[in-house]
Amino acid sequence: MSVIVTNQLTKVFPGNIRAVDGIDFEVKAGEIFGFLGPNGAGKTTTIKMLNTLIKPTSGTAVVTGIDVVRNPAEVRKNIGYVAQDVGVDEYATGRENLALYGRFYRLDGRTIKQRVKGLFELVDLTGYEDKIVSTYSGGMRKRLDIAMGLIHQPQLIFLDEPTVGLDPQTRVHIWDYIGNLAKAMGITIFLTTHYMEEADRLADRIAIIDLGKIIAMGTPAELKQSIGGDVVTLSPRETGGEQYEEFIRRTQAALADQAFILGTQEAA
Ligand SMILES: Nc1ncnc2c1ncn2[C@@H]1O[C@H](COP(=O)(O)OP(=O)(O)OP(=O)(O)O)[C@@H](O)[C@H]1O
Ligand SMILES: [Mg+2]
Repeated sequence: MSVIVTNQLTKVFPGNIRAVDGIDFEVKAGEIFGFLGPNGAGKTTTIKMLNTLIKPTSGTAVVTGIDVVRNPAEVRKNIGYVAQDVGVDEYATGRENLALYGRFYRLDGRTIKQRVKGLFELVDLTGYEDKIVSTYSGGMRKRLDIAMGLIHQPQLIFLDEPTVGLDPQTRVHIWDYIGNLAKAMGITIFLTTHYMEEADRLADRIAIIDLGKIIAMGTPAELKQSIGGDVVTLSPRETGGEQYEEFIRRTQAALADQAFILGTQEAA
């Protein structure tokens, strides 16, 4: 079953800015779909059309079987959205933040209470329920933000750049939670990122978007194969250990713009 289907989806902003320029793609149930592209590529604009926050200029999008223009209210019941900027209330506790979202979705108190417990476990924030969010770290806030997008048990969740601005370690943690969501809860995930590494690690399939157009689409393996000449392979004498990991991370960061993936191979 397809959870998202677009047909020539387009958004033109005033001043003839073609932010999204006739894109076609499909996302299947249970899939993690990565939307990879540089700043200004049209990622957030695409998400906002799919989650009914803005109307397409032309083309169509069907989300969870429903046309986003014809019946936006129905679409919203089925989806969760975690915006690019953290949407949590700093001056409330984690529990209060989640409960507020639950009430937006008209859930009753008992249901909210039950789900809050499960969601705090899911994002590994158990014990922090009643702490004020201003005392959370950036990674904890993002995890709470993700939990908030899940309170109404959506079939599909949009995560707009979920790890931007986080340190490498916290990013890896968030990746684990996201992977878990798809596996443990069967939620379809539409994720945007400008980190190739993130798309490669998380996504079942990736669409690469630039200047509003999809310029490549496929599984990470297919995309890597199509640009096979740009794979860098290191042959270290020893692998493992903190120093090695740090070296790999740095090399990866340094090559991020030129090489799609960095493979490593034990030296013969
Ligand atoms: N409300 C708006 N009015 C006019 N132009 C806009 C509006 N929103 C976005 N744009 C333009 O549309 C283009 C795509 O923007 P968008 O926010 O979708 O990019 P993005 O891929 O999410 O980028 P980033 O990685 O920086 O978040 C940009 O050129 C941006 O300036
Ligand atoms: Mg964006």
